[in-house]
Amino acid sequence: MSYSKRFNLYALLHCLCIQYVICATNTHHIDSFLISCGQDNPVELEDGRVFESDLGNSHVSISPISNTTITNSEKGAPTILSSARVFTSSSIYTFSTKKIGRHWVRIHFYPLNNTKFDLSSAVFSVEANGITLIHEFSFFRGNKSYHLLKEYVIEVTGSNSGRLVLGLLPWDNSVAFINAIEILSVPDDQFSSKVIPIPLGLAHEFPTHVGFETVYRINMGGYSLPPNNDSFWRKWESDKSFLVNPAAVRNVSVNPNSIQYHDGVTSDIAPNWVYATADEMADANVNDQRFNISWRFEVEESFGYFIRLHFCDIVGSRLHDLVFNVYINNQSAIESLDVSQRAKGLSSAYFIDFFTNMSMGSDTILVQVGPNHLTGYLPTALLNGLEIMKMSNPSDSLDGKLAINFESNDKKKSKKIRPMIVILSCLGGGFLIVVVFLISLMFFLCCRHKKKPKKEENTRWSPIPTYVGNSATKFSSNTYGSTSASPSLGQTISFSEVREATKNFDKSLLIGAGGFGKVYQGVLANGLVVAVKRGNPSSQQGLVEFKTEIEMLSKLRHRHLVSLIGYCEELNEMILVYEFMAGGPLRRHLYGSNLPPLTWKQRLEILIGAAKGLHYLHTGVSETVIHRDVKTTNILLDENLEAKVADFGLSKFGPTLNQTHVSTAVKGSFGYLDPEYFRRQQLTEKSDVYSFGVVMLEVLCARPAINPTLPREQVNIAEWGMNWQKKGDLEKIMDQKLMGSVNLESLRKFSETAEKCLNENGNERPSMGDVLWNLEYALQLQEACNGNGDTNCGDGDSMRGISDIPDRIPDVESLDFESISDLESNGTMRD
Ligand SMILES: *[C@@H]1O[C@H](CO)[C@@H](O)[C@H](O)[C@H]1NC(C)=O
Ligand SMILES: *[C@@H]1O[C@H](CO)[C@@H](O)[C@H](O)[C@H]1NC(C)=O
Ligand SMILES: *[C@@H]1O[C@H](CO)[C@@H](O)[C@H](O)[C@H]1NC(C)=O
Ligand SMILES: *[C@@H]1O[C@H](CO)[C@@H](O)[C@H](O)[C@H]1NC(C)=O
Ligand SMILES: *[C@@H]1O[C@H](CO)[C@@H](O)[C@H](O)[C@H]1NC(C)=O
Repeated sequence: MSYSKRFNLYALLHCLCIQYVICATNTHHIDSFLISCGQDNPVELEDGRVFESDLGNSHVSISPISNTTITNSEKGAPTILSSARVFTSSSIYTFSTKKIGRHWVRIHFYPLNNTKFDLSSAVFSVEANGITLIHEFSFFRGNKSYHLLKEYVIEVTGSNSGRLVLGLLPWDNSVAFINAIEILSVPDDQFSSKVIPIPLGLAHEFPTHVGFETVYRINMGGYSLPPNNDSFWRKWESDKSFLVNPAAVRNVSVNPNSIQYHDGVTSDIAPNWVYATADEMADANVNDQRFNISWRFEVEESFGYFIRLHFCDIVGSRLHDLVFNVYINNQSAIESLDVSQRAKGLSSAYFIDFFTNMSMGSDTILVQVGPNHLTGYLPTALLNGLEIMKMSNPSDSLDGKLAINFESNDKKKSKKIRPMIVILSCLGGGFLIVVVFLISLMFFLCCRHKKKPKKEENTRWSPIPTYVGNSATKFSSNTYGSTSASPSLGQTISFSEVREATKNFDKSLLIGAGGFGKVYQGVLANGLVVAVKRGNPSSQQGLVEFKTEIEMLSKLRHRHLVSLIGYCEELNEMILVYEFMAGGPLRRHLYGSNLPPLTWKQRLEILIGAAKGLHYLHTGVSETVIHRDVKTTNILLDENLEAKVADFGLSKFGPTLNQTHVSTAVKGSFGYLDPEYFRRQQLTEKSDVYSFGVVMLEVLCARPAINPTLPREQVNIAEWGMNWQKKGDLEKIMDQKLMGSVNLESLRKFSETAEKCLNENGNERPSMGDVLWNLEYALQLQEACNGNGDTNCGDGDSMRGISDIPDRIPDVESLDFESISDLESNGTMRD
């Protein structure tokens, strides 16, 4: 019996014995795949679900098929984890779905103990219909086996021909594996309501292709609910460990059968068990209560989050008795929420959706409920349930800044129309999220023409990126170890030494935080002042970058590259120790701090230093090194404002003599990314030149490379700057603080150089050596005029003089949205 038949039967039985509401929910399971990977026979779980084998199912295919499976029933491990299918090369699972629209996708991983592979050190990536789910993950750092269950919401579109394609990509010589997959169609109304942005703004809907990852699903005031208490087999956790002050709350509960659903809310949204329990304010009847109940959730910074709050008035005895305020991240989310009014009754279910964008450096979502100061209401506040879902970023990734290097044709097709819809829907609104999508539009459109239509229907995989010292050796169970740094590289430093140097990672010594982790200032026993970068143990992609950084920096030495003093890998720590750069990142000297503004001469000198460092990377070592993440936060300054290039976690060795480029997963930072590299995924040192051009504009204009809060045409500095440069008016958007002190010849040399760096065509960009020469020339021009006291050094009139001689400034193809279709046809011709 196929699973769907089985399920319909189940639904029917369910229907007969349970109330109508629940029955209606189960008929929504138009698609339901429960797959046990690498298992020959169906596996029945304790909760009654039956997982079918991943072979011999007409609606599921694997290509190319891997016959490597592992079965091992470890004591205590759930039966669903007792087998896995292992892939030594990229492979995809394709599910033919009946329903178009969003689907729940749950994937289970458990590194089974076996003699063939060391699954706990395997490094791999996973994507689904073009959304990166997992990027270079490994169990390795936890150093133990655990059940990793990830839940996502992924769209299946008509242009995917109703298919959900799940891709597994092993990293380098590693393997990928998977134990079980669950796919369930999501009813159309599950995520159709509008979401309200925090800080408050106009409510809007998300484009459906945005992928979600469940980060938290919480049942307030109750116990954890197992999957069989939910119509979609979702798990709900207890909220105890998230309460900021547990003493301030009291749990309340009612009989779940008394919960009513009205107005389109069904138990698909959340089971009655969730609405039947809540946390309310302890001692709610004490007069004049003045506090909030607060829950704190750690999330990954720089992603957008969807937050669904579930309310149900299970404490009031009359309608409109329970009115309180709701806050998200210290900002008002709902003022005077009258729960029974919104839910249309007591004990009635109500939910509301919010959206918040976490900026760099903020990694907690704080949800609070507190009493309204108006009198006449119950002096309490409550919350019944909460869900937090991470949303895929503009590069379609849920893990890391950028998408991984697998492309599905399906995705390309579906992208075609959508950005236009986004534009239209954005015209009236201009919400942050939509703006962010718009920024990405350029990239989407740039890359969508890349592949010619393929005859085969499956996802196409790009070649696996080659890596440093890549050898042709076959897979060994210890692959990861074999690619890690050899003992001769760098110098290890003991954890105790690092701890002493940083006074046990004292908060007062914290000097920075980023995607990789936190950075502390420290003093080694020998008196050397150092910067200690401590990898965040929960950052899964950090491991690969950690190894690369050590490997690169151990081989490179240059006055304009930050030196690595040593590293520490003890106790699963990933710690890098560098020379201390007292001036901090260049960006901090440009904007967003109270540091004194840099003069034009200082800016030129800093850029010259950074250019020397990059020039050395590109030409000074036997193999070209491409930095891949050139940006103003990776250019550090010492106490004399001398620049050094930092952060080699993404670096690669460049093409060898008989190659012209390296094919590789697109990595880098948004706003600095070479559009040609993004489109063709062919890396050359000219990609660094492009990023350096962005840095030059940032230095000139003292604003971020991407600033989504600005009007659309100004969001991207490369686009904005080149529009002005084309008109010969780049100085109009230059940092106000430079006005009147810049020699116009020097500025013109600078602008021309930046423009050349930002050339659409990598071959036409100058080398770093040329850039360096031009910057030095610009510096000479500036110094010459400073030296002879020339009044032309930058009074307002001479600045304007530039636009009087526009013919001196060559035309350049700009990267604005209007020219995208041109870009596209050019690209197609090239292909
Ligand atoms: C894994 O298997 C090996 C032998 O095959 C055994 O020595 C080891 O204890 C096992 N580890 C676990 C965690 O079961
Ligand atoms: C609710 O509170 C009571 C009394 O404090 C406690 O015994 C019980 O475990 C709590 N229930 C839950 C679900 O936390
Ligand atoms: C789950 O639902 C069953 C009835 O379907 C109920 O008996 C059980 O108590 C529920 N579990 C929890 C933890 O609420
Ligand atoms: C909220 O405010 C508290 C106290 O002022 C502060 O400690 C916390 O960092 C703030 N949280 C957020 C997310 O802004
Ligand atoms: C509750 O939290 C919000 C936001 O953090 C704050 O503005 C408000 O004053 C708090 N209310 C009470 C009663 O502490």
